[in-house]
Amino acid sequence: MKVVSIVGARPQLVKLAPLAGAFAGTEHRHVIVHTGQHYDADLSDVFFTGLGIPTPDVHLGIGSGSHGAQTGHALAALDPVLAAERPDWVLVYGDTNSTLAGALSAVKQHLRVAHLEAGLRSFNRRMPEEHNRILTDHAADLLLAPTEEAMRHLATEGLASRSVLVGDVMVDVCLTVRDTVLAGGQPAPALPAGIDPTEPYLVATLHRAENTDDPERLAALVDALAALPVPVALLAHPRLTARAEEYGVKLDQGALRVGRPLPYAGMVAAVLGSVGVVTDSGGLQKEAYLLGRLCTTLRPQTEWPETLSGDWNRLVPDPHLLGTATLAATATRPTPTTARGEPFGDGRAAHRVVRVLADALA
Ligand code: UD1
Repeated sequence: MKVVSIVGARPQLVKLAPLAGAFAGTEHRHVIVHTGQHYDADLSDVFFTGLGIPTPDVHLGIGSGSHGAQTGHALAALDPVLAAERPDWVLVYGDTNSTLAGALSAVKQHLRVAHLEAGLRSFNRRMPEEHNRILTDHAADLLLAPTEEAMRHLATEGLASRSVLVGDVMVDVCLTVRDTVLAGGQPAPALPAGIDPTEPYLVATLHRAENTDDPERLAALVDALAALPVPVALLAHPRLTARAEEYGVKLDQGALRVGRPLPYAGMVAAVLGSVGVVTDSGGLQKEAYLLGRLCTTLRPQTEWPETLSGDWNRLVPDPHLLGTATLAATATRPTPTTARGEPFGDGRAAHRVVRVLADALA
């Protein structure tokens, strides 16, 4: 079996890592195509080196742009690559513009498409990720769902016969890296200057377009974070840095200590060392849950509602409207003691994906 994985953005590289590992132990051929949607070393290269992912076989170098331009450039660049490779499966990951471009290029060439992390829904049709995941699910031949909830969404949309519950591959990578970090096998994470790892601190990220691209909302969210009662390690995505600069919003204020995005193991170590996470990232909500740190999510909804159980994660859509004390109390609430279960699977999802792809061909 020959499988082409199409990736392009940071969260896809994290999901690619366990897949690349699972393919490596088989006779199957695995070809990695990087669209180049993310190109900064912090968002791309460090994930290949840090997670031991083979260098991409093909790099398309598409870079940034409007949704149409970015998706269109990736689509045009993928056509000849997939035409030359003619794989048994094209595997696309998550919900970025690279995911949609990969699914479209493949389906138009009558190549089988499998969508990893299928069935997630926020029901917020203003999110670019929601467009990408719905369109990709409906284009794909095989829907690899991470959770029971995702399976239910796919069934509601008439896609049950193409759906398989495999579990979440992010559990595979998160728990493996956690064990390495806890065994002392990783250098200390490069936390922002001013964060003392021996004292309580929060980890924060903010990168969703709905939070960063409206100047007033961005300024209000930054003010709310700056007013938190413990130091906040703000690991700034380039989108946040770019918008803050454009709108004249000062990130380095109050409790905020600004640093660069961390490599995967650094992020796991930073979360393990923290008293909690404040974020709008889907991946980080889940990582906090898996690592047993409380999470506060700066969004009105989550694609991972399982993390809300037992109060491990709490949604705070508009912290600035509630007054600074509310976010402070939520973000530093006591760590829950409720058992977390395994709603995202057992950490062997990647091997299951390889088997499901091979079985579907047979
Ligand atoms: C993309 C995904 C989002 C995912 C996120 C993870 C889409 C629609 N969104 O958002 O779902 O959660 O990746 O990070 O695909 N930039 C750089 N260097 C880079 C990449 C981006 O400076 O290497 C800056 C540029 O200013 C760019 C902006 O970040 O315009 C946004 O990048 P883009 O690739 O459009 O989307 P993300 O916000 O990263």
